[in-house]
Amino acid sequence: MNLIFLGPPGAGKGTQAKRLEALHGITQISTGDMLRAEVQAGSAIGLQAKAVMDAGHLVSDEILVAMLGSRIRQPDCARGFILDGFPRTLVQAEELDHLLHGLGMQLDAVLSLEVDEAELTERIAGRFSCAKCGAGYHDSFKPPKVAGVCDVCGSHEFIRRADDKRETVAARLEAYRRQTEPLLPYYEAQHLVRRIDGMLDIATVSAAIDAALGTPVDRKITQS
Ligand code: AP5
Ligand code: MG
Ligand code: ZN
Repeated sequence: MNLIFLGPPGAGKGTQAKRLEALHGITQISTGDMLRAEVQAGSAIGLQAKAVMDAGHLVSDEILVAMLGSRIRQPDCARGFILDGFPRTLVQAEELDHLLHGLGMQLDAVLSLEVDEAELTERIAGRFSCAKCGAGYHDSFKPPKVAGVCDVCGSHEFIRRADDKRETVAARLEAYRRQTEPLLPYYEAQHLVRRIDGMLDIATVSAAIDAALGTPVDRKITQS
C-alpha cells in the first residue's frame, strides 16, 4: 500500500502515519524529520535548510525531490510507504509521478486530513516529542501515561521543534494554503483523494482512516 498524507501543519500527519506504519508494516517517510536530521548533523543540506525551516517557508523542490528519490529506492519502501510531508508543491507532485512510474510503483490513496486553523495552532503549541525515540506527544491531547516518562522507550528527555513558535506557524499555514493546497485538485483528478475529518480525537481519526482504506480505492484506470 502506497499512501500520501496531505494536510496543514499540525493536522496529525505524523501521528497517523506512525500508527499506519506499525499496523501495516509499511515505511513512513517524513521529509520534515529527514530535514531535521540533516540540520542536526550539520550537513550541507541541513545548513541550507535550517533558516528556511525556521522562517516557516518551504525548502527548495530540487533538494526535496533528490532526497525523496534516494529514500524511496531503499529496500524498506518496496513493501509500501506513507509519504508524510511530501509532495508539498505541484512540481514535487509531478516529479513524484515520474519517479513512481519509473520504478513501476503506484499510489493507492491520498489521505487529506482536514482541521480548522484555530485547532492547528493549539495542537502545534502543545506538541513535544521524545528526544531519544521520536515518539510524539501533546501537553493536553496526548500526554505520556506517566508524566515526564516516554511511553515507548522510558526516556526522560523531551524536545520541542524550533519552528513551532506562534509567528512561524502563521508562515507555515500560509505556505500550506498557497503552495500545497493546490495538490488536492491535482490528486482529485487522479481519483485518489480520501477526505478525513481531522478535528476528531486521535483514535476516531485513526478509525476513519482505516474505514477509508478498507473501501475499494476508486483508482483511475490508465494504460501504460
Ligand atoms: P513537517 O515536519 O512536515 O511539518 P508540518 O507539515 O508543518 O507538519 P507537522 O509535523 O507540524 O504536523 P503533523 O501533521 O505531522 O501533526 P502531528 O501528528 O505532529 O515540515 C517541517 C518543515 O520542513 C516545513 O515547514 C518545511 O520548511 C520543510 N519541509 C518538509 N517537507 C518539505 C517538502 N516536501 N518541501 C519543502 N519543504 C519541506 O500532530 C500535531 C500535534 O497534535 C501533536 O502534538 C499530536 O499529538 C496532536 N494531535 C494529532 N492528532 C490529533 C487529534 N486528532 N486530536 C488532538 N491532538 C492531535
Ligand atoms: Mg509531522
Ligand atoms: Zn522515547
